Amino acid sequence: MLQDNLFSSQIANYSNEMTSPEPPLLTYLIQETKTSTHIPDMICGRVEGRLLKMLVNLTKAKHCVEVGTFTGYSALSIAEALPPEGKLITCEIRPRHAKIAQKYFNLSPHGHKIELKLGKATDTLNSLTQPIDFCFIDADKLNYQIYYDLLLPKVKSGGLLVFDNALYHGEVLNPVTKEGKIIHALNTQIQQDSRVEQVLLAIRDGVLLVRKK
Ligand SMILES: C[S@@+](CC[C@H](N)C(=O)[O-])C[C@H]1O[C@@H](n2cnc3c(N)ncnc32)[C@H](O)[C@@H]1O
Repeated sequence: MLQDNLFSSQIANYSNEMTSPEPPLLTYLIQETKTSTHIPDMICGRVEGRLLKMLVNLTKAKHCVEVGTFTGYSALSIAEALPPEGKLITCEIRPRHAKIAQKYFNLSPHGHKIELKLGKATDTLNSLTQPIDFCFIDADKLNYQIYYDLLLPKVKSGGLLVFDNALYHGEVLNPVTKEGKIIHALNTQIQQDSRVEQVLLAIRDGVLLVRKK
């Protein structure tokens, strides 16, 4: 087990090094997140951030939604790939996190494409009327099922939903906590949902890509 962990952390470091670097502003954002928040590891990081940017680029998404802004790292990674008229609506419940994120959105040449909605994500998602091309769900695991049910009907055919933490620290193999059980149940439901096709990438804590047919 120790060897597994060692191997996987070395591979994670190698993947990080062999992935395009994030812009310097995002490196500053990481530094500030480390000094001014309690759980800086919530940032999705270089590999997943660059993956989000690449997916938005490849799908030519224009209308994006994010659940879980935190300090804005993933939002800025998504916004980088949006065209000038593109838009990301990002949901954050904690004013302290939103304040840091908004500071970096204001500093970024891509920040004008981001609208930060402070409050419960379910309220914001319920209010959305425009068809969505791309979603990133990365908060509040207990409500993952609700986010899927709310978002899928609003996503265009060919659009993509990306769920972070789909492996939940490996607990999906033997779910014990409420969160682990919910994530495993949702993975299983999505696997059987004929409206979508999906790929679960075993990178970081698991990234589930769900494409609406
Ligand atoms: C894992 S962090 C998001 C990390 C971010 N996507 C990134 O990569 O930098 C989850 C964030 O979601 C926020 N959050 C938790 N529950 C929420 C809810 N019900 N509605 C909106 N935001 C929520 C938390 O305050 C936290 O900032």
